[in-house]
Amino acid sequence: MISPVTIEQILSRIDIIDIVGNFVRLKKRGANYLGLCPFHNEKTPSFTVSPTKEIYKCFGCGRSGNAISFLMEHEKYSYVEALRWLANRYNVEIEETEVSLETRALRQTAESLYIINHFAQQHFSNNLLHTEEGQDIGLSYLKERGFIDSTIEKFQLGYCSKERDAFAKAAIAAQYNTDNLQKAGLIVKRDDHFIDIYRERVIFPIHNLTGKIIGFGARIIGKNDKAPKYINTPENEIYTKSKILYGSYFARQAIDKADECLLVEGYTDVISLSQSGIENVVASGGTSLTPDQLRLIKKFTPNLTIIYDGDSAGIKAALRGLDLALEEGLQVHLVLLPENEDPDSYVKKAGGDGFRDYITENKKDFVLFQLEVSLKEAGTDSNKKAAVVNRIAETISRLNKAEDFTKQQDYIRKCSELLQIDEAGLNHLVNRFTRERILKQENKSLRETTTVENEAVAEENKSGENDTLALLNKDELAERNLVRVLLEFGNETWTQEKKVSDYILEEFELNSLRELIDNKQMLQIIDAYQKSVDDGTEPILQYFLYHPDPQISATAVGLMDTLYELSPNWKEHYDGPLPTREERYKEEVYSTLIYLKLRKIKRLILENQRDLEKVKSAEEQLTLMQIHLHFKQMEKELTKEYQTVILK
Ligand code: UTP
Ligand code: MN
Repeated sequence: MISPVTIEQILSRIDIIDIVGNFVRLKKRGANYLGLCPFHNEKTPSFTVSPTKEIYKCFGCGRSGNAISFLMEHEKYSYVEALRWLANRYNVEIEETEVSLETRALRQTAESLYIINHFAQQHFSNNLLHTEEGQDIGLSYLKERGFIDSTIEKFQLGYCSKERDAFAKAAIAAQYNTDNLQKAGLIVKRDDHFIDIYRERVIFPIHNLTGKIIGFGARIIGKNDKAPKYINTPENEIYTKSKILYGSYFARQAIDKADECLLVEGYTDVISLSQSGIENVVASGGTSLTPDQLRLIKKFTPNLTIIYDGDSAGIKAALRGLDLALEEGLQVHLVLLPENEDPDSYVKKAGGDGFRDYITENKKDFVLFQLEVSLKEAGTDSNKKAAVVNRIAETISRLNKAEDFTKQQDYIRKCSELLQIDEAGLNHLVNRFTRERILKQENKSLRETTTVENEAVAEENKSGENDTLALLNKDELAERNLVRVLLEFGNETWTQEKKVSDYILEEFELNSLRELIDNKQMLQIIDAYQKSVDDGTEPILQYFLYHPDPQISATAVGLMDTLYELSPNWKEHYDGPLPTREERYKEEVYSTLIYLKLRKIKRLILENQRDLEKVKSAEEQLTLMQIHLHFKQMEKELTKEYQTVILK
């Protein structure tokens, strides 16, 4: 765990413009900065960054957050990874606090595996280049396949000797732990002896995005029907197959530049293409794409082009899971290579430029491609054709985000042409699928969120309160507003002795406003604020924006992202010159609190009325009537006060 002191140091140095500016070109517009949103496709900038509030917000796709959540979303970092990135950028030395034994063990294993893999790569490369056996068997094989020296060096290829334990001996002599060596999939125990797993194979190291080696693919030399063609690293602390795209470390910049990611099946395809100058290419390892891999690609570019061998098994694999790519907002194209060619063989024939031309000319939109393939399959069978229509409508319906609307219409037109069916009919079908899915999602989220609310509703029903109270209870705006002014203006002065936060928290306590707050997230922040005050610290907005509890920081950011506009009250009721900041916050704090107090009184009146209906004695009735009048008087005063502030 990173220590709180370090986190504080990091947070104090964060400059959101600097951080976001690393990834997005920003231009100053008034107090804010504006750029093209990195999270969705757009031509006119709607991505706004506020240096004073330290948050960003896209008015196109609605995404918002702080510098840390930006790194988490854009770079797919975890919270801790984002902190480490920032620490590195701002030269903050990281002080670690005690971590659990479990995490420490996990981290230590991961660290050992990286070190072992590095050692293994060096060992195998040295074998390949500087031993007789390596040169004779490994290097000559790679050369035969057309790989030149600089390519072999760049991809750090290697060779594992055919001797049964050459690597195991070297690694053990170098004091590497045999458990970890086995975990790394490099050696195995046979009859009390450790032997090498990759014997007589060429080695393809697999790098993570920062260039560290997380595993290997070891290819047999020549053909052998008895042994597998490749042996890959088993799943371990650093190697998770479903998250890996081979070559991504080398391809990253080229993908950025081309704004397109080519996807192939094999290690050798990536290497061959790269050697021919086509560097924006990664390999999936021959299986259908996983959601994690899709997200990784999305992180680089929205344009994915999948290149497949001419055989149909490859096509089927390609089509699987691609509906998910559409939902992720990827633009997927497919390219079918000529019969009996794979990217490796074809680029050797056509050359880099020829290959590129072929891609451009044969690139097919995924949806239309899918339609063509299944139409061919269906032939003249009208049942099968109906199934194809359904399937394609469902696929198109997944493009249901507003920004995809024109694309969706385009697909509907083209597909109805291809299917020779009525365009309006297909449109109708697509809408039905969209509706069904939305309904399903709504039901789901309803089920997830209503447990708390249901309890509140049940409570109300039980006590027979009327609709007014139910409505008042749901008035979330006032709650949000209270917490927002607390966060935004808490440290401003209220009176000579009091800060705004003192005033708010006191009033809160004094009038028992706590029970009015239905929104648990708001309460969470108020409590965190109170706690921070009790601990003697002066809570600042940033503390909440970057709170280690992601729920709190998300709530805080969510509250702040409405700050770009003046409160609507001012817009509606104020014609004169704009108020000063101090006038504004005083007014906001004051009116928000009155509003809440008013709500409280209304609630008390209702409760009192309920009691009045059940009175048993005249005496009791009198008391309750007096209370009622008292409350009514307070309500009247508060209402008057409220209107004065609001309409002033
Ligand atoms: P390929 O058979 O196309 O391999 O499998 P390749 O890398 O292109 O190698 P060459 O051109 O035949 O030398 C594609 C990918 O499928 C995975 C590997 O990731 C490979 O790169 N694969 C294939 C395995 O993991 N194990 C195997 O036995 C075969
Ligand atoms: Mn291949």
